[in-house]
Amino acid sequence: MARIAVFNQKGGVGKTTTALNLGAALARLDRSVLLIDLDPQAHLSSIHGQALGNVAASTFAFYRDNTPLAALEIDWTGVGRLIPAHAELIRVDSVFGKGPNILNRLNQGLNDLSAITPESERTVIIDCCPFLGVLSLNAVFAAERLLIPVASDFLSLRGAMQMEKTLTAIEPVLKRRVGRSYLMTRFDRRRNMSFEIQRRMREHFGEDLCETVISENVAVAEAPSVNLDIFSHAETSRGAQDYAALLDEMTGKGFL
Ligand SMILES: Nc1ncnc2c1ncn2[C@@H]1O[C@H](COP(=O)(O)OP(=O)(O)OP(=O)(O)O)[C@@H](O)[C@H]1O
Ligand SMILES: [Mg+2]
Repeated sequence: MARIAVFNQKGGVGKTTTALNLGAALARLDRSVLLIDLDPQAHLSSIHGQALGNVAASTFAFYRDNTPLAALEIDWTGVGRLIPAHAELIRVDSVFGKGPNILNRLNQGLNDLSAITPESERTVIIDCCPFLGVLSLNAVFAAERLLIPVASDFLSLRGAMQMEKTLTAIEPVLKRRVGRSYLMTRFDRRRNMSFEIQRRMREHFGEDLCETVISENVAVAEAPSVNLDIFSHAETSRGAQDYAALLDEMTGKGFL
């Protein structure tokens, strides 16, 4: 089992897309998956289609009411299980931000959950929001590894450098080096810029940069509009091949 947090402070780089499609790639191999939506935007939950709107059945209830994570899981056909988000999550920082042990809250919740569903039996993937606050720190503290999508443009490259600085600043509090895998997304082979950014990413992040790149792919962009992951929507698409390759790489490296 693994706990992976898909995180980047930069918005719109492919976090939700990657959380969903990596989860779906695992599910295709009959691996058990739990997706946790930890973003007040609730994009992942909106792709599920029926998961929105009930605060008491969302990750916010975990923070506000101490509802155990086990009680919040719902089915997601073809993907596994989901704990949905709610817009109210935006209040976690202001309401619970200074509470005791707040940074370890999700870690503790997942430890409790693993007593019910052993973690040896499934992979937990956390979809984070695009800013660093209590929610994202909770994910970083709970995760064994961060998967950091980086879109193939210059501002995203800068964002990735900023991410590395942020992680270096967090690690003394965390008291461990959190393993990270940077993943290039929206890679367009027709553009020299994509290769230039890849070269710089390799120079900067070395082994922490995934070999796999996720191509710019229309089927990947369309799939959420029909509430599907890429494998259910377009099994033979470039996007499906890329996410299958990402899973191969992560498994091959022992990260999953
Ligand atoms: N490989 C891809 N090819 C084409 N479109 C993509 C690809 N990956 C993501 N997108 C599109 O880019 C947009 C942003 O992706 P996504 O929502 O996954 O990013 P995010 O990092 O989760 O954003 P946020 O920071 O707002 O949570 C979406 O419209 C998504 O469909
Ligand atoms: Mg997102």
